Amino acid sequence: MQRAAVLLTLISTSAALRPEWMPGDYSQTVVGAQTFVEDYNSTAEEVFYFSTEANWKYNTNLTVHNSQQQVIAFLEELEFTEAWCQKAKDTFPDSFIETLNPEVQIILSNIKVLGPANLPTSERERYNTILSQMDSIYSTAKVCRSPEECWSLEPELIDIMANSRSYKRLLYAWEGWHNEAGDHLRSLYPEFVELSNKAFRMDGFSDTGAYWRSLYESLTFEQDLENLFIQLEPLYQNLHAFVRRKLYDFYGPKYINLKGPIPAHLLGNMWSQNWNIYNMMIPFPDKTNVDVTDTMVAQGYNATHMFRVAEEFFTSLGLIPMPDKFWDKSMLEKPSDGRDVVSHASAWDFYNRKDFSKLNRCFMDNEGLIDAVQAFDCSSCDFMNAKKIEKLAKQYDKHIDDELLQIHKNC
Ligand SMILES: *[C@@H]1O[C@H](CO)[C@@H](O)[C@H](O)[C@H]1NC(C)=O
Ligand SMILES: *[C@@H]1O[C@H](CO)[C@@H](O)[C@H](O)[C@H]1NC(C)=O
Ligand SMILES: *[C@@H]1O[C@H](CO)[C@@H](O)[C@H](O)[C@H]1NC(C)=O
Ligand SMILES: *[C@@H]1O[C@H](CO)[C@@H](O)[C@H](O)[C@H]1NC(C)=O
Repeated sequence: MQRAAVLLTLISTSAALRPEWMPGDYSQTVVGAQTFVEDYNSTAEEVFYFSTEANWKYNTNLTVHNSQQQVIAFLEELEFTEAWCQKAKDTFPDSFIETLNPEVQIILSNIKVLGPANLPTSERERYNTILSQMDSIYSTAKVCRSPEECWSLEPELIDIMANSRSYKRLLYAWEGWHNEAGDHLRSLYPEFVELSNKAFRMDGFSDTGAYWRSLYESLTFEQDLENLFIQLEPLYQNLHAFVRRKLYDFYGPKYINLKGPIPAHLLGNMWSQNWNIYNMMIPFPDKTNVDVTDTMVAQGYNATHMFRVAEEFFTSLGLIPMPDKFWDKSMLEKPSDGRDVVSHASAWDFYNRKDFSKLNRCFMDNEGLIDAVQAFDCSSCDFMNAKKIEKLAKQYDKHIDDELLQIHKNC
């Protein structure tokens, strides 16, 4: 209890934004808008660096002190976002923004999105509570075969989905998890939709979906997706038919209809995202295996070497090399000095154009390569916008919730 009280005191005393990070006054002119955008850019760089650094410190060393520092930094960032948003709303009405050049238009309209922070305090609190409840339902849902034997999503259910080849066991796991998570989320979701739509309508969007689609900055978004789908469709249909036939050969006509859809629980992944069943599908068994894991193990690959090889690939495509700081500060393996760290992989942009991304990777597996892709991707971004603010805010919200939960548990 005492720790929670300390944390809450810190939260309430840390809410003021330091003066050098406050917006100045700007005129409603082209020059005013330009100056605002430039000032926002240079200030956001400092604020985001400050809060990302604090978040990184916490993620790579989970102590109460680091958590408190991280919460303070997050709240200051929220203050920053709201202060500059409010300033933009007060100074630059939409009708004026429409007269500016497209680049400045996009930046200003993104800064002007306040989202859930538009809501009055009580609704905002309710919104945050719903989000954290949904988060917790999703991450704690368990499938119990008996009071003694319960499976969590990680590691048991994910493992069953990937490795079991028993139709019934897979169905039990899939259905059980969807019932557990889904049924409990169902009662909260409509209220989330209502509050979220209300918030984004206050920013001028017709609903939350319109806001989400606006992040793609394309006026022809639906058509773009349709075109991509049309391009992929022939390949997808062939792949689908091939996979269905292989599943039919294994599970038989009782379970697989050669003219129907594939049951979602047979694809090796709870969400059918990765079709994690290659060993049942090998099209040319006599050809060299495309899975290079064994070869990598035989050649003595370690984590650093994997990342070096990934970098060679990306620089060969013409991308710039990772800065030295990436190699110095990234956490590629779980530290052995006894500290607790967040153990899932993530790529970080520190928003200062210097140490763009560090990587937090504790366990080496196939996903390591995907993370490397994300990290390298970050080295090409150079401007922060509402998208990133939102992503960051979500990330932080979650950490605060997790931390509060943890502290409550410790009491
Ligand atoms: C943002 O600021 C950095 C330097 O602080 C500069 O390199 C970059 O070009 C600026 N971006 C924009 C869009 O003004
Ligand atoms: C972890 O954070 C604590 C502060 O809470 C600090 O004293 C300690 O040195 C840090 N450990 C490492 C390995 O950085
Ligand atoms: C829009 O304005 C910005 C800031 O003044 C400038 O850097 C950019 O080149 C302009 N873009 C166009 C398309 O005029
Ligand atoms: C990782 O592998 C590289 C290349 O094989 C080697 O130079 C390096 O010393 C290895 N590092 C560790 C910590 O084993």
